[in-house]
Amino acid sequence: PSNNEREKGDKNMSIQTVMVIGAGQMGAGIAQVCAQAGYNVKMNDREEEALQKGKAGIEKRLTKAVEKEKMTASDCDATMQRLSMTTNLAEANDCDLVIEAVVENMDVKKQVFTALDTHAPKHAILASNTSSLPITEIAAATNRPERVIGMHFMNPVPVMKLVEIIRGLQTSHETYQAIHDMTLKLAKTPVEVRDFPGFVSNRVLMPMINEAIYTVYEGVANPQAVDDVMKLGMNHPMGPLTLADFIGLDTCLSIMEVLHEGFGDSKYRPCPLLRQYVQAGWLGKKSGRGFYQYE
Ligand code: CAA
Ligand code: NAD
Repeated sequence: PSNNEREKGDKNMSIQTVMVIGAGQMGAGIAQVCAQAGYNVKMNDREEEALQKGKAGIEKRLTKAVEKEKMTASDCDATMQRLSMTTNLAEANDCDLVIEAVVENMDVKKQVFTALDTHAPKHAILASNTSSLPITEIAAATNRPERVIGMHFMNPVPVMKLVEIIRGLQTSHETYQAIHDMTLKLAKTPVEVRDFPGFVSNRVLMPMINEAIYTVYEGVANPQAVDDVMKLGMNHPMGPLTLADFIGLDTCLSIMEVLHEGFGDSKYRPCPLLRQYVQAGWLGKKSGRGFYQYE
């Protein structure tokens, strides 16, 4: 290749500045691990308050790591220096990669991707942290479907080693390779899966959580008993209902709906109790109440 082409190729593949859209529990974790790995990170949320909360959470976790001597104070400072915040999506204009982590809703995600397509530079990769929604459909909301990909982190992001990487129908090999390589730089393990409802992680996990909710709904056992069975009997680190509260019951319901609609199979029907809790605003840990109460 000519110098010009090489330069263009290098620019295409070199990721330095990352925008993370959504500063909730996933977005803040993703921003943290990217900044820790040396990337410049712009955190974006439509709510100023969410940005402040997300940043405070990062600062708290890093300070704890310094106290436990797992990180030096200067690395902590340098990581915080690499993080900035904005409510303006147009500031994606100098980013090489955007990772979207807003609510699990196709219409909202499409709006974000269409807007990003106009703001982000042509070479930028647009990734979604969606738990279950079709990457191919999100990609079709842009004019760069070959640069759209699923980059599915697990919660809590700083702790969990997996990133499920989902190729949409039109995702290019270069895009896949860039995200695969970046995942390794984040000290995480990439696993490639195809674009199918719930991918692998939530196709396997979420029906278990939904079934656990059915056992409560049918009066088989109370939430604590269900969780004890799975923790003490199956060595799960958290019982399924504690995990559902941790993930967010709104997110769990959205994923079950994607599975139900995507496969057209009644075995994926969301438990009515899950639906009712979400209707009540009982979204789990983040709202203070779910299957358990939080302070
Ligand atoms: N954020 C960041 N770090 C956290 C954390 C959080 N919310 N919770 C715990 N940690 C860190 C702690 O600081 C601690 O770090 P150090 O070892 O460096 O001190 C470490 O994790 C262990 O924490 P604890 O000893 O307090 O607690 P634990 O041993 O019970 O582990 C856990 C906590 C890792 C969350 C564990 O309970 C666990 O693995 N739970 C299951 C998590 C899981 O299944 N995640 C996947 C959810 S599904 C998903 O993400 C996909 C989707 O699309 C829905
Ligand atoms: P959350 O509710 O904690 O945070 C979502 C954030 O997005 C909020 O701060 C909200 O203000 C912001 N937001 C909403 N619309 C926006 C917009 N148009 N522009 C900018 N910001 C906007 O949710 P979460 O648990 O962090 O989940 C985010 C995404 O990550 C979802 O797609 C979810 O399925 C996925 N995910 C969640 C988990 C989990 O365990 N919670 C795990 C993996 C993936």
